Amino acid sequence: MHEHERGEQRFEASAQAVEWDARYSERDGAMWSGRPNGRLVSEVADLAPGRALDVGCGEGADAIWLARRGWTVTGIDISEVAVRRAREAAEPASAMVEWLSGDALQTPFPVRSFDLVSLQYPALPKAAGEAAVRTLLDAVRPGGLLLAVYHDLDDEHREHMKSRGVDPADYVGVDDLGRLLGNDFTVERHALESRTDPPPGTKPIADVVLRARRR
Ligand SMILES: C[S@@+](CC[C@H](N)C(=O)[O-])C[C@H]1O[C@@H](n2cnc3c(N)ncnc32)[C@H](O)[C@@H]1O
Repeated sequence: MHEHERGEQRFEASAQAVEWDARYSERDGAMWSGRPNGRLVSEVADLAPGRALDVGCGEGADAIWLARRGWTVTGIDISEVAVRRAREAAEPASAMVEWLSGDALQTPFPVRSFDLVSLQYPALPKAAGEAAVRTLLDAVRPGGLLLAVYHDLDDEHREHMKSRGVDPADYVGVDDLGRLLGNDFTVERHALESRTDPPPGTKPIADVVLRARRR
């Protein structure tokens, strides 16, 4: 098998699911803090609740936070392990969330139906193709918000990730996403912001925030 074929296979949904399940299973307990992302909280706290889609919801803290604030939430993640943990976390919090385990780039979400589509530190493979990303963006309804938050990786971070087998260049970046918005969206902010909730003991990495509203 050629190297590029092996590369393509790695980014197929089934392989990504296995990879992320393995990552989540490296430890018995949660991988993330269990707290909602600070950037989501600061961007969304003042919005009137509506329908929200949390793409790559991980262990569910953002989706649960949104649901408890009155949003009708769908959370999707490619990792079954993560979604199982999200479901378990939602129960004691009495948070009603529609949890989906699957590839957000291959799930036919109802078109123009979400008031908020949130991507917090997403890891969507470029290999899925731009049409798949555009289809996901189609889920934002007119007047609705796309909120994408990325890490502002410097060369050192990129090299560190590569040494662990993950090349950020293989994933849809914030600039790719911005370009794919096309003329349907008004970009309200595309900016570097210091992270409000850096994980303790780590070198701070700023956020890149892309906030765009569908016309
Ligand atoms: C860096 S984590 C961020 C998790 C969560 N948003 C957070 O901030 O804690 C990226 C997440 O995206 C999920 N993911 C990767 N590719 C995906 C895909 N194609 N569809 C849905 N989820 C995906 C991973 O399983 C992982 O949980």
